[in-house]
Amino acid sequence: MSRSAHPAGPRHADVLPEGHYSAPADDLNALDPKVWARTVGRDADGVVTVGGIAVTQLAEEYGTPAYILDEDDFRERARAWRTAFGTEADVFYAGKAFLSRAVVRWLDEEGLNLDVCSGGELATALSAGMPAERIAFHGNNKSPEEIERAVRAGVGRIVLDSFQEIVRVAHIAQSLGRRQRVQIRITVGVEAHTHEFIATAHEDQKFGIPLAGGQAAEAVRRALQLDGLEVIGIHSHIGSQIFDMSGFEVAAHRVVGLLKDIRDEHGVELPEIDLGGGLGIAYTSDDDPREPHEIAKALTEIVTRECEAARLATPRISVEPGRAIVGPTAFTLYEVGTVKPLDGLRTYVSVDGGMSDNIRTALYDAEYSVTLASRTSDAEPMLVRVVGKHCESGDIVVKDAFLPGDLAPGDLIAVPATGAYCRSMASNYNHALRPPVVAVRDGAARVVVRRETEEDLLRLDVG
Ligand code: LLP
Repeated sequence: MSRSAHPAGPRHADVLPEGHYSAPADDLNALDPKVWARTVGRDADGVVTVGGIAVTQLAEEYGTPAYILDEDDFRERARAWRTAFGTEADVFYAGKAFLSRAVVRWLDEEGLNLDVCSGGELATALSAGMPAERIAFHGNNKSPEEIERAVRAGVGRIVLDSFQEIVRVAHIAQSLGRRQRVQIRITVGVEAHTHEFIATAHEDQKFGIPLAGGQAAEAVRRALQLDGLEVIGIHSHIGSQIFDMSGFEVAAHRVVGLLKDIRDEHGVELPEIDLGGGLGIAYTSDDDPREPHEIAKALTEIVTRECEAARLATPRISVEPGRAIVGPTAFTLYEVGTVKPLDGLRTYVSVDGGMSDNIRTALYDAEYSVTLASRTSDAEPMLVRVVGKHCESGDIVVKDAFLPGDLAPGDLIAVPATGAYCRSMASNYNHALRPPVVAVRDGAARVVVRRETEEDLLRLDVG
């Protein structure tokens, strides 16, 4: 298509440049429940509401950009995971997806455990009263200070990630007169993302100890000899945003194979196996995630079957979903600043945030959807790219989407499924002030993480 063939102005659905997008939805005002938090809807005026509160009111009270989190949805999803796995298994919420003290309290109340991977996450968990024995501590390079803090606090498990760490944790625990419960994280040669997995690759990474070449077996051998450690199990995490269970199947097969080798060599049946997180969510209407009960059933069946074949008692299973719990429960609310049609290409919609509050599009080429939230519109769809206000052309929030052709500065737009890895990976690029997280429930909103201020920035800059 030649650019001159089209007049300047919003591009309509029948005039589309190349890109990765589906046709516009029949009704741009519709909110697909797959990608939106459960209590999201529109009121009689067409304004998007969550927990019974209109986003126009939220924007007025808390400003934009803001992450708006549906507390009921978070609790329901956490509970669904807990219920799906029952009392015979443990669910550790992966705090890296999004952690705040309010979240820790909700998890505690809903009976979930918590996975942390830094001193900061550990401090947040402990300060909100999560019982230490329900915390797992991860990371490929925990500092001796972090390890000591975790051991002193009495965390339920430390997940060991290297030969050096085996010795380090054992030494610290012993010097504190403790015996620390540990799992050993192994790499099983499976990498899974979305609908694909590769079963023979990916030992070439920084996490875990490779099963291949007997290294994982050697790690267990060494750990079992150390007085400071109580080896309770094997850990495997194979990837992220996974929809297809076959990667877990191969991983479980290989982990159980190691448990069998351990039993044969040491006469010890390790009582636990952790299959990590990585379960996918819907970012757009094209994604079809599985429900927690389906995942629980599939994982339990796989492990039970593999253990029966190996004549092992089925170990206690644990999982570590982060994204699948918090991801769908929040959306980011932005105000449109400029609308710039590029003839024959697309319309650039600039919002008051960007890659500082959602780095995932720039970093992973992630796909998101977007809706006009402060009103409805019957205008023709136009192909847009939602971009931020940062000094970088890769500062894209939503690469390709359709919004109504009459979109104008001052409109509020909302990007769903930003609960996971958006606030937790937010930055101060261009000295942006990281947005607040506002939790909404039963017609009441409250700030659970406040907006950063220029004072916050200047306080760190000691001149
Ligand atoms: N357990 C372990 C050991 C992990 O490394 C991770 C994620 C999880 C659990 C939780 O995975 P989830 O269920 O949330 O997918 N920043 C990336 C994701 C990195 C995930 C790192 N590890 C993103 O924004 O997609």
